[in-house]
Amino acid sequence: MEFFVKSGSPEKQRSACIVAGVFEPRRLSAVAEQLDELSDGYISNLLRRGDLEGKAGQMLLLHQVPNVPSERVLLVGCGKERELDERQYKQIIAKTIKTLNETGSMEAVCFLTELHVKGRDTYWKVRQAVEAAQDSLYTFLQLKTKKDEPRRPLRKMVFNVSTRRELQEGEKAIEHAIAIAKGAKVTRDVANMPPNICNPLYLWEQAQQLGEQYEKITTDVVDEAKMAELGMNSYLTVGRGSENESMMSLIHYNGGEKDAAPIVFVGKGLTFDSGGISIKPGAGMDEMKYDMGGAATVLGLMHTIAALDLPLNVVGVLAGCENMPDGNAYRPGDVLTTMSGQTVEVLNTDAEGRLVLCDALTYVERYQPETVIDIATLTGACIVALGSFATGLMSQHNPLAHELLNASEQSSDRAWRLPLWDEYQELIESPFADIANVGGRAAGTITAGCFLARFTKKYNWAHLDIAGTAWNSGAKKGATGRPVPMLTQFLLNRSGLAHED
Ligand code: BES
Ligand code: MN
Ligand code: ZN
Repeated sequence: MEFFVKSGSPEKQRSACIVAGVFEPRRLSAVAEQLDELSDGYISNLLRRGDLEGKAGQMLLLHQVPNVPSERVLLVGCGKERELDERQYKQIIAKTIKTLNETGSMEAVCFLTELHVKGRDTYWKVRQAVEAAQDSLYTFLQLKTKKDEPRRPLRKMVFNVSTRRELQEGEKAIEHAIAIAKGAKVTRDVANMPPNICNPLYLWEQAQQLGEQYEKITTDVVDEAKMAELGMNSYLTVGRGSENESMMSLIHYNGGEKDAAPIVFVGKGLTFDSGGISIKPGAGMDEMKYDMGGAATVLGLMHTIAALDLPLNVVGVLAGCENMPDGNAYRPGDVLTTMSGQTVEVLNTDAEGRLVLCDALTYVERYQPETVIDIATLTGACIVALGSFATGLMSQHNPLAHELLNASEQSSDRAWRLPLWDEYQELIESPFADIANVGGRAAGTITAGCFLARFTKKYNWAHLDIAGTAWNSGAKKGATGRPVPMLTQFLLNRSGLAHED
């Protein structure tokens, strides 16, 4: 799909559809007003007759409105004018796009980007509109034999801004949003792929394909033989019950100064997490194909970074592995020696993510990184704490935590911080090894973070628990592409390329 920004008035637009807002109760937005005058009160007449109240999300599609050169006018209910906030704005845009896609308009000029949204500027409105558009049109049809696609899909959207002055920020917003949407689509596609197809080797193939597309990207893989040489016993142990070889894919993006320290992203890549010998209950176990959501995020993010040609050095790590029970699988009670030398007592083989990540986090010390951020569907407890609205953020480095929280706020891809105080470390002490791989029921997300903190002392580090945000369950089951927008924003800020008022 193509996106443009324009600054113009509706009477001159010759498009398949013009999209204009109507507020509750039956109050025309500036553009709807113009269309009404042009058509000698055609629209206000309809409203008076009760066709549209203006409640948020209401849609009314009109054809051949008198004197309007466009074929259709889509009136969109925007709720009470003063109450239009970011959440409502995003919902309205998503619904608009779906309606356009299903009603035969292959292109449209949308004036909703001119509306006032509390606390947000034109850059934000255009960027969210493009992201929401791409988001709501996403489908995963690769594995269906009958593909149910619209006959006349939406192909081109023009977003209108009030003044010519805003065109530049609008264009920047489109560029950023397209790159984010491109990455998020990769994240969703790979995450939605079933675990009989998407295994650690598949992740490595995806990394290689990305490397072939860009000059600035090189890739490498650490396979089981290499892991054994390096002493990555903890990582290796988790994959031992699986027929699929563990593979840690490395994606190097070289966009910065030659000797500039890289920013490293490490993604948990459990292509299936059965729980191992501490096996999970059957209900909903299919969703553990999404336990590679962190790796999928890192892969998508690397696509976005390359598309934006960011002036940074970035390393992406996809920690691919499968957690299965068999005669060779690891057991509760086992004591492992990690790559760092620290020993771990396994109390639950379902707390496998931290065992894979700890070795990956030790491995990346070799890059002498500026910053390391890991992204992981690490704990069910994170869903209990934050639900699906916020990613869990943990860091012992305050400036980094604040940078990430800012980025999440700017991008409307929210995160919320949990503490990693030393007190919590007591919960994962072990009588038989340096650490236990689980604490009790209390503070499960934090104790997982505390575990990782013991392996990240050599650099500035933050941990993102995306157990609640990486995918939706239920009727709308599917990967979300989060937190690609937030992490892209973090990197745009670091590059000095972010939009400022
Ligand atoms: N991948 C899961 C966490 C998870 C569960 C994410 C459900 C999203 C939805 C992780 O490997 C796991 O099983 N964690 C255990 C930890 C426990 C054994 C301490 C959990 O959350 O139950
Ligand atoms: Mn698990
Ligand atoms: Zn897991």
